[in-house]
Amino acid sequence: MSRVPSLEDLGNVNGKRVLVRTDFNVPMSGPDDARVITDDFRIRAALPTIEWLTSRGAHVVCASHLGRPKGKPVAKYSMAPVRARLHELAPGVELLENLRFDDGEEGNSPEFVSQLIAGIDMYVNDAFGAAHRSHASVVGPPRTLPSAAGRLLQKEVEVLGAMRDNPKRPFVAVLGGAKVSDKMGVIEALLNIVDSLVIGGGMCFTFLAAKGYPVGDSICELDQVATCRRLLDSGKTIYLPDDIVGLDANGDFATYGVRLPDGAKGLDIGPGSAAAFSDVIMDARTVFWNGPMGMFEDERFAAGTRTVAEAMAATKAFTVVGGGDSAAALAQFKLDDEVDHVSTGGGASLELLELGDLPGLAALRGAPNVR
Ligand code: 3PG
Repeated sequence: MSRVPSLEDLGNVNGKRVLVRTDFNVPMSGPDDARVITDDFRIRAALPTIEWLTSRGAHVVCASHLGRPKGKPVAKYSMAPVRARLHELAPGVELLENLRFDDGEEGNSPEFVSQLIAGIDMYVNDAFGAAHRSHASVVGPPRTLPSAAGRLLQKEVEVLGAMRDNPKRPFVAVLGGAKVSDKMGVIEALLNIVDSLVIGGGMCFTFLAAKGYPVGDSICELDQVATCRRLLDSGKTIYLPDDIVGLDANGDFATYGVRLPDGAKGLDIGPGSAAAFSDVIMDARTVFWNGPMGMFEDERFAAGTRTVAEAMAATKAFTVVGGGDSAAALAQFKLDDEVDHVSTGGGASLELLELGDLPGLAALRGAPNVR
């Protein structure tokens, strides 16, 4: 396999127009025509690459998606607020309108690629969070332009790749989030790599159902129960919660053991499970965490996720948090500086762990400057 080119492989960038694919899919709030960025982490994360290029005389044109506008302009997904923030952080850098306003982006259309690279001399992919998408702006430009991975993409791949291929053991993965079906591929892959898997969040109820426990009205994917049972029977170490907090049939806060009565809805792991999960994290030497343990946006159901976040901050293990909601939870608890690596990609980090490669990386390996 040829290597993924880095910025140094571009040669002289002075005076060149460089298209930089970034992942500026940032969280926002407010009315559709006056959106406000609530966390600019992904914009700041692209600055090392942008500054590397501009300090060497390149003219940088950034391009990103924002949300899922499905191929047509949607006011709430306009890039205007992101552009304003980018101009504060990196004056003089251009930012194109939301790539997904054109259906050629997700459709990977050659016409859209030609449009994107018109007048462009070089291409840099620094959008780790989108590198698992075979979209036009991710896989198209490296077919013809000298190309490279930006510093953020490079670092993400180094950290996650080393964790996948050569972790210090015991290696523990902590997975949460609502749907087990979204993560079944990565659960199966992780079971071959990790020493133990800790499962919380909404997805734990499908596993608890597979063990024969009643889960009340909790989220449970019946079509995944048989697969969960097979994984539980595989002989691998899988930790599940043995107490649960949630709402009873009257909508009141309640604490349960592992069996939920009819009408009860589990919304967080209980205190005993949180303590047990914390112990597993403290004893590990590598920990990967993706997905909250419960509905942490509601303070009543935040304790499980907070305990896991605190254990991630306190353990001596090498700690990696895989994007999305778990990164948002860490930030909410002000612990984001206390872990070794917070990935900018949720889906991308899971796919890299599952498959060991991403379409965006494969595309860069085929670029004309490294072929
Ligand atoms: C993300 O937020 O994980 C990335 O920006 C990818 O977004 P997508 O899931 O809409 O492709």
